[in-house]
Amino acid sequence: MSALSLSAAEAATAPASFLEIVGNRPLSGSVHISGAKNSALVVMAGALLCPDQCRIRNVPQLADVGRMLEILQALGVKTKQQGDCIDLDLRDLSSPAAPYELVNQLRASFFAIGPLLARVGVARMPLPGGCNIGARPVDLHVRGLRALGAHVQIEHGIVSAAIPGSRRRLQGARIYLDCPSVGATETLMMAAVLAEGETILENAAQEPEVVDLANFCRAMGARIRGAGTNTISIQGVERLHTADYAIIPDRIEAGTFLIAGAITNSVINVAPVIPDHLSATIAKLEEMGCPIVQTGSNELQTRPQGSLRGVDLRTLPYPGFPTDMQAQFMALMSICEGDSVITETVFENRMQHVAELQRMGADIRLQGNTAIVRGVPQLSGAPVLATDLRASAALILAALAAEGKTQISGLQHLDRGYENIEEKLRKLGADIKRFSAE
Ligand code: UD1
Repeated sequence: MSALSLSAAEAATAPASFLEIVGNRPLSGSVHISGAKNSALVVMAGALLCPDQCRIRNVPQLADVGRMLEILQALGVKTKQQGDCIDLDLRDLSSPAAPYELVNQLRASFFAIGPLLARVGVARMPLPGGCNIGARPVDLHVRGLRALGAHVQIEHGIVSAAIPGSRRRLQGARIYLDCPSVGATETLMMAAVLAEGETILENAAQEPEVVDLANFCRAMGARIRGAGTNTISIQGVERLHTADYAIIPDRIEAGTFLIAGAITNSVINVAPVIPDHLSATIAKLEEMGCPIVQTGSNELQTRPQGSLRGVDLRTLPYPGFPTDMQAQFMALMSICEGDSVITETVFENRMQHVAELQRMGADIRLQGNTAIVRGVPQLSGAPVLATDLRASAALILAALAAEGKTQISGLQHLDRGYENIEEKLRKLGADIKRFSAE
């Protein structure tokens, strides 16, 4: 153990790395919100459209960002990372194929297929496969690329896409997405940016990260209208140019810290945020009895008033309630007065945190993708295992409110998506330590 040492008995039974949280303490102060993980990843992929150099700012330092940098390097991009700023030199792409070992570790790296195809006329990406929260197919990405005139084959687990014949560019098309997939909207928007003519994406995802990607593409000279609505039109251009672009703040990290305030009955300032991106989260917290006050143009403050009441929620595509906040709300609901019902409609296997919250004393019944949460007066600390990224956040939140000590293992998920979470929580007054295997 490197960070802190354990007693011999503890070390014998402890997992390799874990967080230890002693809960039931109030928090206070301000927390700085990092750049949005999901924007940063797709903007880094989108940079492949640029035949020059690009600077991306406000990029969170996360394991997923490191993996995306490795993918870009494998494609021939020269990268330089300094703090939250990434410089990319995209002048010479040496390979149109991403290695399986890298794509396999980061689903979002598949999103490089659209810009790569548009820029060099050919792209080969391993199928990203399933993940803990569901099967997550890429059929909508593939169907859309075909509609843009690409020849796409899937063989031996590799998706090979090429612009056929002597054509140099994809062809604009009208594409209706069966469901408003964030990833498919992003893939197709990036592919269409360099296509010949106009592309219209109908039933497109409206998430802020889609808008951020569109703004980045526009900064490079792309012509995109309607991002943030369900119909996006892209007028293809021949060539893009260099850009210097800052990523939006992470609305999911911000929402997680708002819940940290609510679950510990504490006043916390959360900034910078774009309050509009948090409407669904704020509305639910207020319905539960925790007012959220805007204390500056980009700052929110929790104003808890003692007990909270149970509410119902259903995850939906934006502007509906985000599936990426579902687990964290379940932790909060587990200590509210009364019952709550959560229905997960976006991913089919996103309830694995239920069993772990139950270990901490939560009263939750699961029926398919519906969880019925009966509030209990107090959770109690226990050893728990994080099963995916947002489940990790939910367990940390539960631990902050629980009586006694919680040990959370499975930290590889947490490190994918939360920058310096222990340090940020410690600054707010939490008793949280990481034990790492050497
Ligand atoms: C993105 C986010 C993820 C978030 C999710 C929903 C990134 C890196 N990840 O994931 O954090 O939880 O949006 O807000 O941005 N689907 C298909 N066929 C496809 C594509 C998707 O059936 O070709 C289905 C999926 O299985 C899922 C639903 O559509 O049930 C939504 O998925 P999607 O919006 O594509 O999520 P991601 O882009 O993978």
